[in-house]
Amino acid sequence: MSAPAPNRGYDLVVVANRLPVDVSVDDDGTPSWTRSPGGLVTALAPVMARSAGAWVGWGGAPGLELEPFEVDGTQLVPVTLSQDEVAAYYEGFSNDTLWPLYHDVIAPPTFHRQWWDAYQRVNRRFAQAAAAQAARGATVWVHDYQLQLVPRYLRDLRPDVRIGYFHHIPFPPLEIFAQLPWRRQVVDGLLGADLVGFQRNGDAANFVRVVRRFTDLTTRGQVITLTRHGKVERHVRAAPFPISIDSQAFDQLARTPEVQKRAEEIRHELGSPEVLLLGVDRLDYTKGIRHRIKAYGELLEDGRLSPQHTTLVQVASPSRENVGAYQQLRDDVELLVGRINGDHGQVGHAPVQYLHQSFPMEEMAALYLAADVMLVTALRDGMNLVAKEYVAARSDERGALVLSEFTGAADELSGAVLVNPHDIDGMKNAITYAAHMEAREARTRMRRLRRRVLGHDVNAWSTEFLAVLTAVPLREGHV
Ligand code: G6P
Repeated sequence: MSAPAPNRGYDLVVVANRLPVDVSVDDDGTPSWTRSPGGLVTALAPVMARSAGAWVGWGGAPGLELEPFEVDGTQLVPVTLSQDEVAAYYEGFSNDTLWPLYHDVIAPPTFHRQWWDAYQRVNRRFAQAAAAQAARGATVWVHDYQLQLVPRYLRDLRPDVRIGYFHHIPFPPLEIFAQLPWRRQVVDGLLGADLVGFQRNGDAANFVRVVRRFTDLTTRGQVITLTRHGKVERHVRAAPFPISIDSQAFDQLARTPEVQKRAEEIRHELGSPEVLLLGVDRLDYTKGIRHRIKAYGELLEDGRLSPQHTTLVQVASPSRENVGAYQQLRDDVELLVGRINGDHGQVGHAPVQYLHQSFPMEEMAALYLAADVMLVTALRDGMNLVAKEYVAARSDERGALVLSEFTGAADELSGAVLVNPHDIDGMKNAITYAAHMEAREARTRMRRLRRRVLGHDVNAWSTEFLAVLTAVPLREGHV
């Protein structure tokens, strides 16, 4: 690999697996794009708007070869992935090796050497694309588990830039991480960064422990010291930066008359249930959807919730549909939903409204407003922004949040009713409690939740991360 000559370039370069837009190509070969609704896009939009920056990422379809293009002042730099690379790097190593491994092996991770080869190759390509965009002394911010080797490859190409990495998903305990045949290379990849950010304190602590176990570097609290020929080379900081949402914007959206009206309509269309429960997730086995629906089914069975007067709306947006574990999950969830509706439904009323679809933000805000109880029962989740969106939407200070202890959000959201989703009886009690919560208690809890969510938004998150990163002294490097 040879380093490009960066006489020009961008002062801020974001590197993420996905571009902030989904690109498609028409039959006549013309590319078009739609903004992708992901959290990261919203998270970084204000930062990108402040400084002329570039965003390096994949357009979301195999074989797309596109020149860089500009959207809202940001230079988007597409990275091409072949069909085979999508299968081996994205569906394989990222989502069938790392994803289950990092989420407490809820599903068994698959280890394939060919997938690892593709992961290295694609990470190198992202690093080269970033190196080509960065100005001298630029800040490069790399995102998430798909790109853990990029910090190291990039540092080798461009020792003059500051490199930050943020890990959006959990970082597992040493004993689980140790299963990864390429654990040493992954640690080395991350240590290419100056700052490695995590969602929770526990994630950062797990990482530091892994560094101590698989390298001979010294660590002191959050700081890891890298040495070369017995001399201190540089320091890497591993610290928590819990991500958030654009809370103000969400709060405002949920206050609009259109959304308020739509929320009423939703309740009406559902037959004005006494209790409306809501689940909103990507259809992913980490989200505890089966556990939640099982608990709900038992509550109907036991008569603790009335099948006639209760509805659970479960939005499960399609995700990673080529990966076997996701196909299996879909079958399991749909079987379970069918059983409950078959056993407890009536003509004109199904106790579970299951929607295997994605909806625009306006519709989501209306659903949040309509729901009496929001169920976030993930078995493991880096943060969970749905929980924060629910809170931001509830300026009426009503509604209750049932939240799994195994989400990053649980570390922050002390007004929620916390549950262990593996404990079905405990979850049944928590759901019943939330469904019948006194208005006063609900208000007190929601106020506490809103203080946190509105007081720490995504803008604060990115500002804090970049402030720590840009405090790292710039290094002289050959470019
Ligand atoms: C999680 C990951 C993101 C990922 C998103 C959607 O939130 O942390 O990196 O983009 O899921 O998954 P997908 O595979 O569709 O990008």
